[in-house]
Amino acid sequence: MKAGDVVFILLCYNLTMAVILDGKNLRDKILTELKVKLDRFDKKPTLVVILVGDNPASRIYVNNKKKTAEKLGINSVVLNYPENISESELLAKIEELNNDKEVTAILVQLPLPEHISKENVINAISPQKDVDGFTPYNFGKLFSGEKPIVYPCTPKGVLLLLDEYGIELEGKHIVVIGRSNVVGRPLSQMLLNRNATVTVCHSHTKNLAQITKTADIVVSAVGKNIIEGEMLKSDCVIVDVGIFKDINGKTRGDVDFESAFQKASYISPVPGGVGPMTIASLMLNTVELFEKFSA
Ligand code: GUN
Repeated sequence: MKAGDVVFILLCYNLTMAVILDGKNLRDKILTELKVKLDRFDKKPTLVVILVGDNPASRIYVNNKKKTAEKLGINSVVLNYPENISESELLAKIEELNNDKEVTAILVQLPLPEHISKENVINAISPQKDVDGFTPYNFGKLFSGEKPIVYPCTPKGVLLLLDEYGIELEGKHIVVIGRSNVVGRPLSQMLLNRNATVTVCHSHTKNLAQITKTADIVVSAVGKNIIEGEMLKSDCVIVDVGIFKDINGKTRGDVDFESAFQKASYISPVPGGVGPMTIASLMLNTVELFEKFSA
């Protein structure tokens, strides 16, 4: 081997880059297939989204959900209540929606104002219309290793993305960072059900880097920039669920993309990774509920 060859090999080694887990592309593929299916239905599902207050991020998410549903021909209603709505008024509205045969899916956008119990509100949703899979019935099924009626949207989106790229989960050490009911907890169970070895880390975890360095797959769902390339094992898979604006107003994820990109074999970008998959999963869930209970 000549010196030039060695330099070339070293250069190639340093230039090893990750494959992008493209959530936009997969979302478009899923939605195109779903539209074909929906076009064959005589009746269409109706998704009701409840938004309380004026949280700007929630407003954007809810608008995206509504726009996507409408493009597919799903009836979509957004009920926007003022911040000071009482819990009992909200519970009464949910009861009304549960009893309305036209309504096939209900989503209460989180977070809710502090004076309203998130648990009481979620518990009030009929499990058969619980498009988030957050009710105790659906969560209980998931946590006991059974199938819930539908799976929570963001974890479902993460798994669809990993599956699309043929990333093996069985026997892999998967480190989930974050233990929210929206992402970390349900995702950890879904990964366990796929025979992964799962470590859940959170704000009290000591020596996070020591743990992430042993991970084949890292899923971070924190909303803060906490992962640098040096905390990762070479060729690991990175799924970045976090999304927030940095001090310059730039949309960022939990992972320092540039350094992680050099280290990982696959990485999901922010934006364009998990976010679009959450919407795709919501649409899939809306259609699944409709097919199971109303078609
Ligand atoms: N807020 C952030 N993500 C979600 C979600 O997946 N479902 C609901 N209902 N609220 C959210």
